[in-house]
Amino acid sequence: MLSIGVVGAGKVGAVLAARLREAGHEIIAAAGESDASRDRAAALLPGVPLMKPSAVARSCDLLLLTVPDDMLPNVVRVLADSGSLREGQYVVHTSGRHGLAVLAPAAAVGAHVIALHPAMTFTGTSVDLERLDGCVFGLTAGPDERLLAEDLVRELGGRPTWVPEEMRGLYHAGLAHGANHLVTLVSEAMDLLAAAGSADPAGTLRPLLEAALDNALERGDAALTGPIVRGDVQTVKAHLEDIKANRPDTLPSYVAMARATLDRAVTDGRVLPIRALSILRLLDAAVAPTSRHQDH
Ligand SMILES: NC(=O)c1ccc[n+]([C@@H]2O[C@H](COP(=O)([O-])OP(=O)(O)OC[C@H]3O[C@@H](n4cnc5c(N)ncnc54)[C@H](OP(=O)(O)O)[C@@H]3O)[C@@H](O)[C@H]2O)c1
Repeated sequence: MLSIGVVGAGKVGAVLAARLREAGHEIIAAAGESDASRDRAAALLPGVPLMKPSAVARSCDLLLLTVPDDMLPNVVRVLADSGSLREGQYVVHTSGRHGLAVLAPAAAVGAHVIALHPAMTFTGTSVDLERLDGCVFGLTAGPDERLLAEDLVRELGGRPTWVPEEMRGLYHAGLAHGANHLVTLVSEAMDLLAAAGSADPAGTLRPLLEAALDNALERGDAALTGPIVRGDVQTVKAHLEDIKANRPDTLPSYVAMARATLDRAVTDGRVLPIRALSILRLLDAAVAPTSRHQDH
């Protein structure tokens, strides 16, 4: 059993700490000043005292740093410079983008450092707790910390995957491109259906999108269907005209995704280059500046 301190009690910190508490660890203190952090701590970590970050860091065997990515370098440096971290202590952060370099000030005082990123989206409520079951955690740690890092992930209900230090950015870009841009894509698709008069855009899309997501995760590019891979030039042309007339705000991303889709379908040989060229010309024309702009 470890005594764990949490800086701060945000969406991730409060939920991971609650899970580690269930696993038998003692959550000794947490930091958080906003009403949101205080409410989360009260709901997910009842009885855990709220303290200043330096006091939390001093009080624990394992310090969980769950602050925003951009704050992390400064928080680690301030805690190290103020003597709040110590040799042999575990210092763990949950950022996807950062690896171990950001924890260098902690490593310099002899702390064991670990990057432990849950590949999950958090609401900061109890609904997140069961989503941790089977969740993948991107781990970066040295040989001495490997076992503890994997144990923590298992106690959280997750599965570990190891990410090399120099690949953290790319690993995180892959997750963000998939999960964050998917939200934008789905929202735009709902906008188009709403503009087409659908009373239930989400309900209309759900079975289709769930099937497409399952197929893509299983088969990659081979799962692709639709006008681009069929080479249906006239259908793509009609899409572009209708989008331009009704929801021109979604045209740039439709064109960008259609270009990427086309490239991949040509590369795997499913669209003839001659067909692809016709579609590409349409896509280019749809977002080309008007002649009035070109005069400037
Ligand atoms: N949200 C997700 O879905 C998700 C998923 C995976 C990984 N992560 C990663 O987990 C980390 C935390 O994200 P989050 O979404 O939980 O953030 P969050 O909900 O915004 O919570 C951040 C916490 O850090 C505290 N904090 C902010 N600035 C601080 C500072 N300078 N010193 C001390 N404490 C400070 C905040 O306290 P106050 O409220 O008092 O300001 C709050 O308790 C990030 O590295 C993020 O990339 C997030």
